[in-house]
Amino acid sequence: MKKIIIALAGLLLSTMPMMSQAKVNIIPKPSAVQVLNASPFSVNKSTTVLIKAPADDKRHLESVLSSLLPDLKVSGKKSSNQIKLEIVKQLLGVDSAEGYTLTADAKKGVTVNATTGAGLFYGLQSVAQLLEENGGTAIPAVKIVDSPRFDYRGMMIDVSRNFRDKEFIKKQIDAMARLKLNTMQFHLTDGAGWRLQIDKYPRLTEYAAWRPADTWKEWTANGSEYCERTDPRAHGGFYTKDDIREILDYAADRYITVIPEIEMPSHSEEVTAAYPELSCTHNPKGTSDFCPGNEKTFEFIENVLDEVMELFPSEYINIGGDEAPKTNWKTCELCKARMESEGIENVDGLQSYLIHRVEKYLNSKGRKLIGWDEIMEGGIAPNAAVVSWRGIDGGIKAAESGHNAVMAPGRFCYFDGYQDAPDSQPEAIGGYLPLELVYSFNPAPDSLGRAVTDYIKGVEGTLFTEYIATDKHAEYMLYPRMYALAEVAWTPQDKRNDYSEFRSRALAYNSRMKDRGYNVFDLASEIGNRPEAITPIEHLGKGKTVTYNRNYWRNYPAAGASTFTDGIRGGWNYNDGRWQGFVSGNDDRIDVTIDLEKEQPLSYIGADFMQICGPEVWFPTKVVISVSDNGTDFTPLATVEHEQVRDNKVSFKEYAWKGQASGRYVRFQAFSPQGVTFTDEIVIK
Ligand code: ACM
Ligand code: ZN
Repeated sequence: MKKIIIALAGLLLSTMPMMSQAKVNIIPKPSAVQVLNASPFSVNKSTTVLIKAPADDKRHLESVLSSLLPDLKVSGKKSSNQIKLEIVKQLLGVDSAEGYTLTADAKKGVTVNATTGAGLFYGLQSVAQLLEENGGTAIPAVKIVDSPRFDYRGMMIDVSRNFRDKEFIKKQIDAMARLKLNTMQFHLTDGAGWRLQIDKYPRLTEYAAWRPADTWKEWTANGSEYCERTDPRAHGGFYTKDDIREILDYAADRYITVIPEIEMPSHSEEVTAAYPELSCTHNPKGTSDFCPGNEKTFEFIENVLDEVMELFPSEYINIGGDEAPKTNWKTCELCKARMESEGIENVDGLQSYLIHRVEKYLNSKGRKLIGWDEIMEGGIAPNAAVVSWRGIDGGIKAAESGHNAVMAPGRFCYFDGYQDAPDSQPEAIGGYLPLELVYSFNPAPDSLGRAVTDYIKGVEGTLFTEYIATDKHAEYMLYPRMYALAEVAWTPQDKRNDYSEFRSRALAYNSRMKDRGYNVFDLASEIGNRPEAITPIEHLGKGKTVTYNRNYWRNYPAAGASTFTDGIRGGWNYNDGRWQGFVSGNDDRIDVTIDLEKEQPLSYIGADFMQICGPEVWFPTKVVISVSDNGTDFTPLATVEHEQVRDNKVSFKEYAWKGQASGRYVRFQAFSPQGVTFTDEIVIK
């Protein structure tokens, strides 16, 4: 017995230090990892890589290896000091073509098996992360069996609002690939500039890609004018066809599909500026929509798509489709005639006509259409897929009717919002999307049922760049949030239930990203949510009934009628379900009465308001606080006034009365001549 104990202790002693040193902190977390009771595989100068794969895949893998693991040489001969990447016919326990297995130990070396080149590539990424984390000299003894949760693991990058060069794009593609993302939606066209060479329409890049202002902010503040490419004031740019081919080759080596996004029928001010005959008004200024009544519009779209399809091999072509005002369509003679001849009832139907027709065209060329969820308005085209950005409902609706859907809801996937306390951050579009919120997203909850989740093909982060002028700022917004997105996209939901564990991996990954030259948000010094939002507040009004003398705006109901007395206060974002919104045609916004159920002494009545002028969220100009003991005759306690001044900040302001009074009913009124008014809790002490 004693001998056995000694032997066991010896075994533990010999394995424990090695086990505790083994770092297996891969992002995205693999489906299954087993740390083996064996010595790690040492990597040294004579370690080689053997690739057994079809020629194309071999070429991709070799090309990536030279930048991923530059010290390792590819060899055609088997050896024990080797990392073997080998395609096999079948792989037990791996149900995706992108899956792989990875085994490593000192004796047998490292073997990655997969049924496709993509699978080998992802296995290789895991090898690289293991090596990186273990000082570049060892790969812990492990067995990994891994495959992605979703087929579509995407990131959208907007290069219209502020142009980014091809080197920047390639650098982000590299970061995406290391995180096992496989799709880049390339937002190449929008009102702020057309970014793709189209030979048939040279004005798109001789004119519509340039402006006499550097940044989008400066441009919109000065009348959103375009200028000639040759103008000495010209800022902007576009990708030549050679640039695109270079980007596509780089992406293909990394098993990333680039889906071009060509916006229609709206977000097209730059096109109608260059070719005014394509809009209903023929006005070169400020018209965002194409005229779907005009055959020339379809001629343009088809000609452009022909050149796009010649360049981009992706199965899907994204046609945008979001946020069309369609206003001119109601009065345009050509649009009215089109509606009449096609039996179309309204402008939604006309949008649907355009999308259906474009889909038919793409299908005739062997491609498929994908677009933002607005493409469902007026009826979705037969084979179209949807990127759901206005929440997840659009994606669910598409999936319910048998259409493929990708989830990209603003609340979880829009990386143009603040990732920490706004006043600690560079200016953003607004919002508050910390790492934890990205991580919390489940794009396809089981509760939706298989009939729906089978059609939810994945998830996409977006980087719209209105407020993001520089490469450094763009990277800052992408990282570390892209790590969380990658794990949402790849890792099984039941393996993603510990945010703090993910956060510690993200911190380590962040520092390696910095070493590779990326400008990342400093997660280690994260401040977190608005302090008031963290712990509920106790006060006399808590749980009491609120009567709305004017109703709140149904778009921002928060917790409905209990919002102001539930003790829960809002965070940095008016969109967090805690801030209640009010709009009105007049100055009056909020008018509520709270019944405290009995008369009592009062010393404080107040509420916080939020202001962010970009989306027209304003502090009130006036708040009136009054009390009553019968609910009818109110005595004013305080009138708090404020002068509205437009600024670039996200701000919070308390409007309150302090003093000595008594009463049973508290009436709280707020006034503003513009925008939306948001508050979260009426605190009564
Ligand atoms: C979008 O954010 N308009 C897709
Ligand atoms: Zn028209």
